[in-house]
This record gives sequence, C-alpha cells and structure tokens, in this order.
Amino acid sequence: MILLKNVTYVYKNIVNDKTAIDNINMKIQKNSLIGLIGPCGSGKSTLAQIISKLIRPTCGEIIFDERKINLVFQYPEHQIFNNTVYDEINFGIKNNKFNDIDRKKKILDVLELVKLNENFLYKNPFKLSGGQQRRIIIASILIMQPDVLILDEPTVGLDFESREKIISYIKNIYFNNKTTVIIISHDLNVIFELVERIVYLDSGKIIFDGSAIDFFYNIKNFVVEKSETKLLIDLLNSKNFCIKKDIIKKKELVDFISQKLKRE
Ligand SMILES: Nc1ncnc2c1ncn2[C@@H]1O[C@H](COP(=O)(O)OP(=O)(O)O)[C@@H](O)[C@H]1O
Ligand SMILES: [Mg+2]
Repeated sequence: MILLKNVTYVYKNIVNDKTAIDNINMKIQKNSLIGLIGPCGSGKSTLAQIISKLIRPTCGEIIFDERKINLVFQYPEHQIFNNTVYDEINFGIKNNKFNDIDRKKKILDVLELVKLNENFLYKNPFKLSGGQQRRIIIASILIMQPDVLILDEPTVGLDFESREKIISYIKNIYFNNKTTVIIISHDLNVIFELVERIVYLDSGKIIFDGSAIDFFYNIKNFVVEKSETKLLIDLLNSKNFCIKKDIIKKKELVDFISQKLKRE
C-alpha cells in the first residue's frame, strides 16, 4: 500500500511559484488498477513522479510498503538507446548474476507479456513501429519486476490497433504479475476498458475518487471527452433502449445488446 498524506508539490521558478499538487490525500492498495485522469496541466505527471519517488513533495508525507516503483514516461520510445531489443530489455538486469540461458528466458517472458515474440530479439528497436517501441520499453521496465507500475499516457500517438494491444497487455501484466498499476490517460476508451477505480485531478486537487461506474454515469460533471462506448449508450438510451447501469466496457455493451436482441 502507498499512503499519501496532505501532499503538496510546488514548482519554484524565478518569476513565480506553481502549486502543481495541492494537499492530496490518497491510498493506493496493493494490486489495484487505478486510472488517473484530469485536464491538461492538472498535475497528473507531477503526481506520477512523486509516487515513483523521482521528486519529493514540498510538504506532506508518503508512506510506502512497496519498494520498487517504476514510471513509464509519456513517449518512452524517446528513451531507447540500444541497437537490439535484447540489449534494450537486458539493460535493467545487466548487473544481476544470471547465466545466459536464464537471462534470455527472462527477456522472452517479458516480451511475451507485451505480446511480442522471439523474432523481435535481435531486431533494431529504432526500426520498429511506435507501438512496438513503446511495448519494448515497457518490457524493459517489467523485467525489473516493479511492485508498482505507473504508465503516463501509454496510448498517446498510437493508432487504434496499437491502442487495443496496449489495453490487452496492461490487463495481462495486472492479472499475471499481481502488480499495482496506475494508468494516466485522457483517453476514456482506454480507462473504462481497464480500471475499476478512477482518480480525477483538477488544478492539483482530487475532485473525484471512486468507482469507474460512478464516474461513467456522472461524466457531465467533469471536463472529459466521452468514450465511444458512453456515446453509444447515451444514443441507445435516447431511443429507449434502457442499457443497464453497470455497463461501461465495450464488450459488456455488445453482450448486453446481443442478449436483448435474442430475447426479442
Ligand atoms: N518543470 C516545471 N516547472 C514549472 N511548472 C511546471 C513544471 N512542470 C509542470 N509544471 C506545471 O505544473 C502543472 C501540472 O503539470 P503536470 O503535472 O505536467 O500536469 P498534467 O500531467 O496533468 O498535464 C501545470 O500547470 C504545469 O504547467
Ligand atoms: Mg502529463
């Protein structure tokens, strides 16, 4: 568990100071999957850096049970610096005393988690697609076996197919590894497919902290673009379709409609 108590973070500039995180209280349970959302400049990336211990709060306190907390930055592919996928992923375990066979096995295991295979091992990461590069960087972090994995806008700039792949491997990581996952995204299509708890930030404050379902049905109170599923549900309900209140995922909606059609 990670506990944030009255955490504030101020960026100190010569001209003026900027309070990016404003007196936040938050509990992150072990093995939870949390969506951190909010408008641009609301403090999401700052909070991610505080939780991953890259910056220290200006005031307040954080209590950590978990030791290894890793953050995948927005556009992580800009941080690729090895000439093979093998070297890139191996980097995080370079100093561990594994023999070559164990080492390769560990690398293949994390590659599989991000849905890539052995054929990629000796490819040049600079020559792969943006989505593949991002998955390799995430694999290079997963190999360090983080207790908490924070992903800052993991789908930004990716096409539809890569986005769907990213959603499926985040599910994989979460269910297979018992890792706590915090995902920052302004894309509610991604958030609703994945998380049960949503924390919504605005001007450095937590405005909402609760279930994804509650958030989904109160969306009009928040500055967010609706997900495709939500738009579809609103449209169907305006035609008296009466979609059940606990549906938020695309697959749940498809199943519900096909059941309903079968019955009629
Ligand atoms: N290095 C910095 N120096 C000064 N202000 C910053 C710095 N980084 C971010 N900020 C400001 O802090 C606020 C929160 O930024 P950020 O955490 O990046 O928000 P988000 O990730 O939600 O877009 C913004 O107003 C931003 O302009
Ligand atoms: Mg950000």
